[in-house]
Amino acid sequence: MSSSPSSRPTALVTGATAGLGAAYARSLARRGHDLVVVARDVERLESTASALRTEFGVEVEVLAADLSDRAALQRVADRVGSREAPVDVLVNNAGFGLRQRFVDGEPADHERMFDVLCRAVMVLSRAATGAMVPRGRGRILNVGSVAGLVPGGGHYSAAKAYVIVLTETMAGELRGTGVSATVVEPGYVRTEFHARSGMSSGGTSSLSSRIWLDIEDVVDASLEDLFAGRPVSVPTKRWKAVSAVLDVVPRRVVSSVWNRMPSGAKRRHPTAGE
Ligand SMILES: NC(=O)c1ccc[n+]([C@@H]2O[C@H](COP(=O)([O-])OP(=O)(O)OC[C@H]3O[C@@H](n4cnc5c(N)ncnc54)[C@H](OP(=O)(O)O)[C@@H]3O)[C@@H](O)[C@H]2O)c1
Repeated sequence: MSSSPSSRPTALVTGATAGLGAAYARSLARRGHDLVVVARDVERLESTASALRTEFGVEVEVLAADLSDRAALQRVADRVGSREAPVDVLVNNAGFGLRQRFVDGEPADHERMFDVLCRAVMVLSRAATGAMVPRGRGRILNVGSVAGLVPGGGHYSAAKAYVIVLTETMAGELRGTGVSATVVEPGYVRTEFHARSGMSSGGTSSLSSRIWLDIEDVVDASLEDLFAGRPVSVPTKRWKAVSAVLDVVPRRVVSSVWNRMPSGAKRRHPTAGE
C-alpha cells in the first residue's frame, strides 16, 4: 500500500464504489482530497479509483476489504490509524439492508449486519480518534439514517440507532480536541441499496417521488455539516421536519403507530427511510 506523498489531505471512504459512498468519494476528490477507497469488489474499486484519478488528478489507494471479516477490518483500521500516511477524513458509509424482521431470517445475516453497520463503525472510529486526537485535527462522518429514529424498522433501525448515539457520544467526548464527529441521517436515496436488499419491486418503487432525496444534496449538506463540526446532519428541510417530529414524539407512540400499520406496508418499507 503506497502512502500519499502529496500535500493534499486524505479521506478514507468505506463503500466507495456505489451510491452514497461513490458520491462522497467524488465530492471529496473535487474538494482536493486524496482518497483511500474501501469495498469488497476489487474490479469495481480499481475502476472507481481510475476514474477519480483521471477526473480530479488526486491520488487514490484501493483497499479491498469485507468489513464483516475481522482480519480485513483490522487492515482498514491499521490504514485509518497510520501515523506515516495520516487519514484526515474518515467516512464510515458502507452498509446494506435486510428485508425482514429481526426475529426472521438467518442468524448469519443479522451478525453480518451488526458487523458492518455497527462493529466496523466502532472499530474504525476508534482507530481514527486514536490517530487524530494526538494530531489535534480530523473529521469523522458516520452514515446513519432517519430509520435509526424509528423503533420498528427491524435490525437495521437498531443498528442505525447505535450509529447515531455512538457518534453523538463521540462528538461530546471530542469537544475541544480539534477532532469532530458527525452523523448524517438521510431519508430515502436512490442507490443500489434497495435492489441489493430485495426492496425494489413492489416496495420502495411505490413511494412518492417527493420522498426521494437527491444524492448530491445529501452529500453536499452532510459534508458542509462535517466541515463545520456539527454533530448531526439531516439533509433537506422535509427530512429535518420528519426527524424533528420523531425526536419529540415518545418512542412508545412511534412504535405503537408503526405496529398498527398493515403488515404489508411494514414489509415493503421495513426501515421507514433507509
Ligand atoms: N439509500 C438509502 O436510501 C439510504 C438512506 C439512509 C442511509 N443509507 C445508508 O447509506 C450507506 C450507503 O448506502 P447506499 O444506499 O449508498 O448503498 P449501495 O448503493 O448499496 O452501496 C453500498 C456500498 O457499500 C459497500 N459494501 C457493502 N457491504 C460491504 C462490506 N461487507 N464490506 C465492505 N463494503 C461493503 C458496497 O461495495 P461492495 O459490494 O463491493 O462491498 C458499496 O460500495 C449505508 O450505510 C446505508 O445504510 C442509505
